Amino acid sequence: MTRARLSAVCVGLSTSGCAGVQSIAPSAGAHTSAFNSLFVVFLVVCGFFYLLVIGFLGAAILRRRRQGEDGVPALFRVWVGLVSLSLVGLALASWLTDRAMASYGDKGPPVRIRLTANQWWWDVEYLGANPSEAVRTANEVHLPIGRPTLIELQSNDVIHSFWVPNLAGKQDLIPGRTEDIALLPRKIGVFRGQCAEFCGAQHAHMALTVVVEPEAQFRSWWRQQQAEAPAPRTPEQLAGMTYVTTRECATCHAIAGTTASASVAPDLTHIASRKTIAAGTLPMSRGGLYAWIADPQGVKPGAHMPYIGLEARQLDAVVAYLETLK
Ligand code: CUA
Repeated sequence: MTRARLSAVCVGLSTSGCAGVQSIAPSAGAHTSAFNSLFVVFLVVCGFFYLLVIGFLGAAILRRRRQGEDGVPALFRVWVGLVSLSLVGLALASWLTDRAMASYGDKGPPVRIRLTANQWWWDVEYLGANPSEAVRTANEVHLPIGRPTLIELQSNDVIHSFWVPNLAGKQDLIPGRTEDIALLPRKIGVFRGQCAEFCGAQHAHMALTVVVEPEAQFRSWWRQQQAEAPAPRTPEQLAGMTYVTTRECATCHAIAGTTASASVAPDLTHIASRKTIAAGTLPMSRGGLYAWIADPQGVKPGAHMPYIGLEARQLDAVVAYLETLK
């Protein structure tokens, strides 16, 4: 491969990550915009000084130093002044950006969410103004565009890290502590968040889907999530519900409106309305449900979802029921 072609490949590879559903550029939120602007300021100032230093170095190499010359104190003073001013400027820009990223402006009351990290999934609670508005879901967050969101971050076990690069910087979740992160989504779309702190065998399969949508669509999603699970309509769905709410599943999962109310695993009340299952590991589809329930340890080794060993008929019924939980 020629040197030119190799360079083109390197540039292509290094910039190919700069787009898409899990990327800081182009940003989809006010906080990443602030951060990206700071990045450009640092790049320009540091690039300028880098070129200046290289220029001076080149000049010094090319120019034979005259004997007896005792330096250039005036130029040196200018140099020190320039560097000091730039450092103060960069520190100020950093501080201002930090302040901007800690606030969410005055665009009305924020959507408040409590996000609890677990090995290896995200528990999502929408904290409404009153208990009847509260919503519990998992691994998927819906946000209205243009409205600030304040997320409380907690961990149930080890250190994880919240990172939705299109919307905000990283924030670690440390057991025993509550951290806050503010978001202000400015672009409609589906974005991918990813745990950004190594947290065990399935760290890579700990994704969070973030759906930014118009206010009206968000409201209707929120109302739908507040509802109890729909009742089964066929004998097979009823058999599935009976299994899920009285056997192994009910020791960990909850389904609002049924007797299943445990909270150590993802809430299943509206599982079929989500885009993925097992924290982004499989698509939410009939095939995904079959694969996950039949062999969770084959799909995500080490996950807390155990192998249950359902008979084919039971598996069909459980999947048929879960598919109705929109
Ligand atoms: Cu959780 Cu990595």
